Amino acid sequence: MSTKNNAWEYADSIESASHINLRKQYGLYIDGKWVKPSSNKYFSSSNPHDEKHIADVSEANEDDVDRAVQAAAKAYKLWSKISAAERGKYIFRIARLMQEQARELAVIESLDSGKPIREARDIDIPLACNHFFYYAGWADKLEYAFPNQQKKPLGVAGQIIPWNFPLLMAAWKIAPALATGNTVVLKPAETTSLTALKLAEIIEASGIPSGVVNIVTGFGDTGAALVAHPKVSKIAFTGSTAVGKLIQKTIAGSNKKATLELGGKSANIIFDDAPIDQAVEGIINGIFFNQGHVCCAGSRLFVQENIAEKVIRKLKHRMQSLQVGNPLDKNTDIGAINSKEQLKIIQRYIDIGIKEGSEFFQTDCALPVQGYYCRPTLFVNVAQSSILAQEEIFGPVLTIQTFRTVDEVIQKANNSPYGLAAGVWTDKGSKIFNLTSKLKAGVVWANTYNKFDPSSPFGGYKESGFGREGGLHGLGAYLK
Ligand code: NAI
Ligand code: MG
Repeated sequence: MSTKNNAWEYADSIESASHINLRKQYGLYIDGKWVKPSSNKYFSSSNPHDEKHIADVSEANEDDVDRAVQAAAKAYKLWSKISAAERGKYIFRIARLMQEQARELAVIESLDSGKPIREARDIDIPLACNHFFYYAGWADKLEYAFPNQQKKPLGVAGQIIPWNFPLLMAAWKIAPALATGNTVVLKPAETTSLTALKLAEIIEASGIPSGVVNIVTGFGDTGAALVAHPKVSKIAFTGSTAVGKLIQKTIAGSNKKATLELGGKSANIIFDDAPIDQAVEGIINGIFFNQGHVCCAGSRLFVQENIAEKVIRKLKHRMQSLQVGNPLDKNTDIGAINSKEQLKIIQRYIDIGIKEGSEFFQTDCALPVQGYYCRPTLFVNVAQSSILAQEEIFGPVLTIQTFRTVDEVIQKANNSPYGLAAGVWTDKGSKIFNLTSKLKAGVVWANTYNKFDPSSPFGGYKESGFGREGGLHGLGAYLK
């Protein structure tokens, strides 16, 4: 079943990764079994650090999606009727099994996605486990959560996730759906299917009834088939705004419920009374965490004019210390860009910025000779109208603008088609309250950035999508 392959080479290169189990070829996980894709087509999942093949993954077509949805619909009859406490036990079991395999999951996540092992180990995997623990706890408390309301599960949830937080997004989607008595068909992103497939093995080992969770791998057309399937009652999607809009068109006029978690262009705002060194760390974390492949990345920095020179100087200095390199190296701060396509997208934005003539800065760290890498990048004094300040780049590229007054920065920060997150750095609580009420963003962090917890809801306004995931709100999205 499990075969040794080249992943061992990388694994052996770091101490904490001495044991990983990956199959050479993965089938689809449907109705509690591993099955071949009906087209018999497979595609390669590779390591963005060196472009080496890791494992073959099945390409599911419309027939396979149909099989998975039918299995989920059949399992729903059982799953929605068993006691809530029993449902909770299965979800707890999944969480514990994930925890036991956390080290292996972290290495596979880092190999397949390009994210630094330190982030996978300390953030992604523990948070993914915590989502299952958190929602396991809610399973038998729905009557407390929604007192005096008759709430029922929706049925089969079709869930489509992106490549930036592969296992964590799978957890965000699957855990609340199961807790509320729905069954699931999940489609991972094509460049990062492996941890979702490991999760399928864990789900299998948990003994949960067959068909409650099905995992189908493939490209955009696999996702589209899932969205269009008449027996799917709910779509949960995280990804690009363009695909989010396509999904909305497909489900218009149907009874399908949807939550769409789309792109962002979030403002990180530094006032002159902020603790500067802490704020600089917050800027770094806001934009360079996970190579900037973060929907809520603090990609637009607003610095109060009188401290701009100082903040930018300190920021450049700190950026020079960031190590870009092999994601499996524990000292790596910025790993590999997830795919060749994404690196091209980022490079195109950098070229536009250079052409536009805003001040440009990149660190001069050494880059690995192969693989998809991008140096941490700044553009200073970017015009509000610039594409760089308007569009999601989804890479380690920060634009900097300055402001004088509170009203001016609120106006500038809200001048965006997106509204996912924001950060505010100041010593004054009153300023924080003023901004949190006026910024059009689903999440506003004060004197911190990119802090996540299963108990707090997450989601956006405007083109960043709608619906909330996480916390109590995340349960509501799976009930009628
Ligand atoms: P994408 O939106 O195409 O992919 C996300 C998921 O949707 C993948 O699983 C994909 O297979 C699936 N998908 C693609 N087309 C579909 C369709 N027609 N129907 C149903 N599912 C479909 O994103 P992509 O192409 O990987 O990245 C392009 C850009 O999107 C990035 O440069 C970034 O700006 C943005 N993006 C934003 C994310 C976020 O979390 N805000 C996540 C991923 C991408
Ligand atoms: Mg990959």
